[in-house]
Amino acid sequence: MACFGKEIVAADRNFTTFVDWIIYVIDGATALWCAAGAGHFEVVKLLVSHGANVNHTTVTNSTPLRAACFDGRLDIVKYLVENHASINIANKYDNTCLMIAAYKGHVDVVRYLLEQHADPNAKAHCGATALHFAAEAGHLEIVRELVKWKSAMMVNGHGMTPLKVAAESCKADVVELLLAHADCHRQSRIEALELLGASFANDRENYDIMKTYHYLYLAMLERYRDSESIIGKEILPQIEAYGNRAECRTPQELEAIRQDRDALHMEGLIVRERILGSDNIDVSHPIIYRGAVYADNMQFEQCIKLWLHALHLRQKGNRNTHKDLLRFAQVFSQMIHLNEPVKAKDIESVLRCSVLEIEQGAARVRSSQDAELHTATDNYECNIFTFLYLVCISTKTQCRDEEQSRINKQIYNLIHLDPRTRDGSSLLHHAVNSSTPVDDFHTNDVCSFPNALVTKLLLDCGADVNATDHEGNTPLHLIVQYNRPISDFLTLHSIIISLVEAGAHTDMTNKQKKTPLDKSTTGVSEILLKTQMKLSLKCLAARAVRGYRIPYHNQIPKTLEEFVEFH
Ligand SMILES: *[C@@H]1O[C@H](CO)[C@@H](O)[C@H](O)[C@H]1NC(C)=O
Ligand SMILES: *[C@@H]1O[C@H](CO)[C@@H](O)[C@H](O)[C@H]1NC(C)=O
Ligand SMILES: *[C@@H]1O[C@H](CO)[C@@H](O)[C@H](O)[C@H]1NC(C)=O
Repeated sequence: MACFGKEIVAADRNFTTFVDWIIYVIDGATALWCAAGAGHFEVVKLLVSHGANVNHTTVTNSTPLRAACFDGRLDIVKYLVENHASINIANKYDNTCLMIAAYKGHVDVVRYLLEQHADPNAKAHCGATALHFAAEAGHLEIVRELVKWKSAMMVNGHGMTPLKVAAESCKADVVELLLAHADCHRQSRIEALELLGASFANDRENYDIMKTYHYLYLAMLERYRDSESIIGKEILPQIEAYGNRAECRTPQELEAIRQDRDALHMEGLIVRERILGSDNIDVSHPIIYRGAVYADNMQFEQCIKLWLHALHLRQKGNRNTHKDLLRFAQVFSQMIHLNEPVKAKDIESVLRCSVLEIEQGAARVRSSQDAELHTATDNYECNIFTFLYLVCISTKTQCRDEEQSRINKQIYNLIHLDPRTRDGSSLLHHAVNSSTPVDDFHTNDVCSFPNALVTKLLLDCGADVNATDHEGNTPLHLIVQYNRPISDFLTLHSIIISLVEAGAHTDMTNKQKKTPLDKSTTGVSEILLKTQMKLSLKCLAARAVRGYRIPYHNQIPKTLEEFVEFH
């Protein structure tokens, strides 16, 4: 969930064995830290009795006590505290010992730390308290303990209280406990019940449509409890992806959809988007889940509407969308494979989002370093390939002229950005490269490379036929090495023709001074190339100048110098 685990506990990764701890090099970890984290009590005692510093921290500011709390070893925790370890040193995310024990579900450690006056209301960097962590993980006993020690109901950095966090992650027992204890306003009571019910409607692990109805109904009763002051809903504009449903306003309206699963599913999505807000990071997962269920039932239209809605939400929040985009390539491929019509308008929408994502991805690559840079570059390359799959899919779709030109506009926009993979390959290089990776979930039923139609379409949309990769190879250098010249002759033939017609020069050399003709590995591509070659006198002269190293700088017109350099 929200401000959670993933980043915050990252430094504590979920390791179960000592070897894992060691292998995941923890910078600055002392022997004591390792022994405490791995549960070797005897070693801990030995080290401490020989003067090991109990407060020493790792690079991420983790103490041996924190390592023991993570592991849930009350004996070690007690021993360290009795030997004057500080319980208040938080890691670099301001995540305290109490929080990690609460998150990992170690109730005895939590109780002990509270007795030692650990602050139950300390906040981590992301604004979460120990109560948020316990509530999200659904550790009922720990929530009870924290409430007993007067943990306050505070909001985290995403505006979520522990109550809402529990509701969002379908932890019904935690929600009920907090509602019974915490003195919360009618409004937050209603919100928690509605969020809980809504979350049960579209959660892969916790799906339970009876509970959806149950909690939505309890919330509705709460709204209507006092006929003098009924609490009405703030109804948001209808959303097409949710079937333009209007949220139920009265107990009667809700009653009417009691047996209507589809309606309850959509009701759940609407309620979540209303309560969490469209920019909340958690809002999109259930939308995607529901879309996937539709796709599995071959109800592609509903699936695509939901996924597009989720994609727009995620993109608006400047989140990474490479997985979302690839998912579209997969479902479109499946549809084409099953002869289901894919709408040009949908392809265009996804292409448009891809262009934006590749643009934002380039900025992320520029601004990141080290491991982050590696991931950002991987995602960036993934998006380039996804874009090619989508272009390929568009060549297999029926569309009217104006639809095609809108698709071409997006392709043109991306070509204009000229995205390259690590080896300097452009879109056109990948379109003609037989090693271009193709995703194997449905996509490879439809897309393959080299691809003549994709090559042609990219060229028509302005791809540079002379683009070179880091080795100085042009796309023509690549295609002549295609190793299936006989069985896939048509592809080889039409790509060579397209490239040459678009102005590819057959005698342009790469960094090893090899022309496409030199690189032809099969007799077939050599013949094809030769029939296309119109070696002009000008070219022959240029090659002679280069070949015999005749000085030409400042001796011929500037424009010709450039020409000679190509040869
Ligand atoms: C560890 O830190 C605590 C709190 O600052 C302090 O009271 C204690 O003396 C320190 N222990 C050692 C062994 O330095
Ligand atoms: C072809 O594509 C593969 C996979 O992307 C890449 O490793 C290889 O360098 C490309 N070949 C050339 C000649 O660019
Ligand atoms: C590619 O480079 C060659 C050699 O300089 C040039 O003659 C040709 O016009 C270029 N083609 C395009 C489309 O830029």
